[in-house]
Amino acid sequence: MQIVSISSLKGGVGKSSVTLGLASAALAAGIPTLVIDLDPHADASTALGVRAHGSRDIGSILRKPKKGAVSKITVAASWTAHPITPESSPRPVLDVAPGSAVSSHLDRSGFKVKDLKRLETVLQGVDTYELVLIDCPPSLTALTRMAWAASHKVLSVAEPSLFSVAGTKRTMTALAQFEGSKLWAVPAAGVIVNRARKDFSEHAHRINELHELFGDLVVHPILPDAPVMQQVQGAAWPVHRWPGEQAAVLAERFSTILAGLLR
Ligand SMILES: Nc1ncnc2c1ncn2[C@@H]1O[C@H](COP(=O)(O)OP(=O)(O)OP(=O)(O)O)[C@@H](O)[C@H]1O
Ligand SMILES: [Mg+2]
Repeated sequence: MQIVSISSLKGGVGKSSVTLGLASAALAAGIPTLVIDLDPHADASTALGVRAHGSRDIGSILRKPKKGAVSKITVAASWTAHPITPESSPRPVLDVAPGSAVSSHLDRSGFKVKDLKRLETVLQGVDTYELVLIDCPPSLTALTRMAWAASHKVLSVAEPSLFSVAGTKRTMTALAQFEGSKLWAVPAAGVIVNRARKDFSEHAHRINELHELFGDLVVHPILPDAPVMQQVQGAAWPVHRWPGEQAAVLAERFSTILAGLLR
């Protein structure tokens, strides 16, 4: 099981969009996947067509974490209701551990080291999935650190803009310090470039800067700025099933990134 956090200390750069694009790629490839929505705003849950009911949300089970407890709260993404695979084949697995404002009790910077094991604990023994994607809030709080502690890989999302490059530096520095603490093994980091515009010299300049700063950690391919992304999310639909050329380009790029992640 590959556990991947999608993170950035800067808000609005496309963390949830990347999580959703990779989930769509996994669904298209038939890879059993769980999306954990750690952000109290629960945007990923909304776009996956699910809502937390009662205390069946990730924040509630992280209060008093029990081994494997995530299985008690997972629901199938609405995306799986209309599979493109033949009826005779097994229903594809794309589950969600829904987010809600409840997780904001952990959206703070004060925490004990043992608290950082909470997410790892609720995932322990769960073997239904090949891939777990964790959508993180845009801050270095207990939630983000719990996600990093539970992950094999951390992807930092960056837009090709000055402020976002600076935010990526902060994220990668925080991640290096986290790894350096030797308490956790987070072996791989990557930088996903999102919302790049062709023929826009400022973007070309910032993408070069990201390559200079992070070298091979910059994930190939980069993701274009594509307004269709907002339509797809508004319809709570997977990009791999959205018609048109713009969605097809996005879908292909997410599939390539996913293949690289799972290699
Ligand atoms: N490649 C893209 N092309 C066009 N629009 C995009 C792209 N990526 C993201 N967006 C849009 O940008 C907005 C912010 O994206 P998103 O919510 O994924 O960012 P985020 O990092 O998760 O934000 P937050 O920090 O609030 O959690 C959304 O409206 C989303 O649809
Ligand atoms: Mg988000």
